[in-house]
Amino acid sequence: MKYQKPKGVFDIFPEPLNEKEGWNCSSHWQYVEEIMRKVSKDYGFKEIRTPIFEDVELFERGVGESSDIVSKEMYTFKDKGDRSLTLRPEGTASAMRAFLERGITQKYPYHKFYYIGPMFRYERPQEGRYRQFHQFGAEVIGNKGPMQDVETIDMMCTLFHRLGLKDLTVYINSIGSSKARADYRRTLRAYFEPHLDVLSKESKVRFEKNVMRILDSREEEDLELVANAPTILDSLDQESKEHFEEVKRLLEKLGIPFIVNTKLVRGLDYYNQTVFEVKSGAIGSQSSVGGGGRYDGLIPLLGGPDLPAVGFSCGIERLIQTMHNQGASFGKEEGLDFFFIPMGAVAAEWCFSEITALRRAGIAAVMPFEETKVKRAFDLALSSKARFVLVIGDEEIKNKKCKIKNLESRLEEEISFDGFIETMKRLAKQ
Ligand code: HAM
Repeated sequence: MKYQKPKGVFDIFPEPLNEKEGWNCSSHWQYVEEIMRKVSKDYGFKEIRTPIFEDVELFERGVGESSDIVSKEMYTFKDKGDRSLTLRPEGTASAMRAFLERGITQKYPYHKFYYIGPMFRYERPQEGRYRQFHQFGAEVIGNKGPMQDVETIDMMCTLFHRLGLKDLTVYINSIGSSKARADYRRTLRAYFEPHLDVLSKESKVRFEKNVMRILDSREEEDLELVANAPTILDSLDQESKEHFEEVKRLLEKLGIPFIVNTKLVRGLDYYNQTVFEVKSGAIGSQSSVGGGGRYDGLIPLLGGPDLPAVGFSCGIERLIQTMHNQGASFGKEEGLDFFFIPMGAVAAEWCFSEITALRRAGIAAVMPFEETKVKRAFDLALSSKARFVLVIGDEEIKNKKCKIKNLESRLEEEISFDGFIETMKRLAKQ
């Protein structure tokens, strides 16, 4: 084959390619996206759609130069006007840019947006990790209270619950104010410095660029040092401590189980105070199905007013994979209403007129356009999940009536061509 898809991406077809790809078909995506839209509505979020490319600086500044995303994973290119553009690696910075650009900051001080769409990161592809992947994300601007943090965590959990996911764990942490983080960075530097020579290569770089990211390390040589590192909770200022206590209390009150993971710092630089991540045991090493947190400093950093914000996003591939691996339902796929099988040219033209009238009335009907043997046409009807099949030849045209077979009940009845469309409408509603 001359052309193949680039590494780390995939196509979505109506049917999965094979058993291994069993999770991936368009009806699964539609089912999941529909639930995401409904959950968003229930929580008062409205959709925002932003371009898939932005000025590179938006991410350099917003997501942060020291993050893995900016330092090594961005798809950045020059356009013909010599502008440096980046395929969005995440949705938060874009959503904030759009919000600020629209100039609605003062008019309504409180906004809730959600988005669904592709993101791009140049990562090493593996199961659950792709170079083009999809996120569902939700962002709230304008409230800095703990209840707002808990609302976003709860929304994420409600989504997972409605998708039928099981055995997920919610991890939370607080990384405090910028002052608390600066203090904590100093504490961590003092802790790791005497052990610099034994740290992994990656962690040595992180020591210089953003020492807190060493806590994310999965390198064998770092594990023990990371496990014994001082925790950020000791460096938290009073306000952040109280905020975090309140988040935990409210989570308990809503009955949302969680684990405090003091090593959770998240890979993007814009966070402060509450951060969270949800993991699934059902999808191998890329187990994080979603994550988020508060990012009160991002809007001012992008040149906007001092508005707080909090949000999360989930990887849709990983959600569908978890559902598939756990045997969750993807709902009942809606098939066609009618499959017409014409026998001969006269019947074909008659059927073509009738399916056109049906479609215009909002009823799903198809027919093969080439002469097809009845047995093969029935197979096609079955695979298209049609509910009714009609075989129409010269005889039926002459007698102005035909048989219609219900493929679910296997029952057959005779219908007249007089009032045909009305009869079909009645049958479609059954
Ligand atoms: P993130 O943790 O980088 O956060 O990504 C969120 C989710 O996207 C991950 O938990 C994972 O499910 C999915 N994901 C990330 N990279 C890949 C990949 N290469 N392949 C497949 N799935 C992936 C953010 O992006 C933040 N914008 C979240 C946020 C929103 N924070 C506040 N608001």
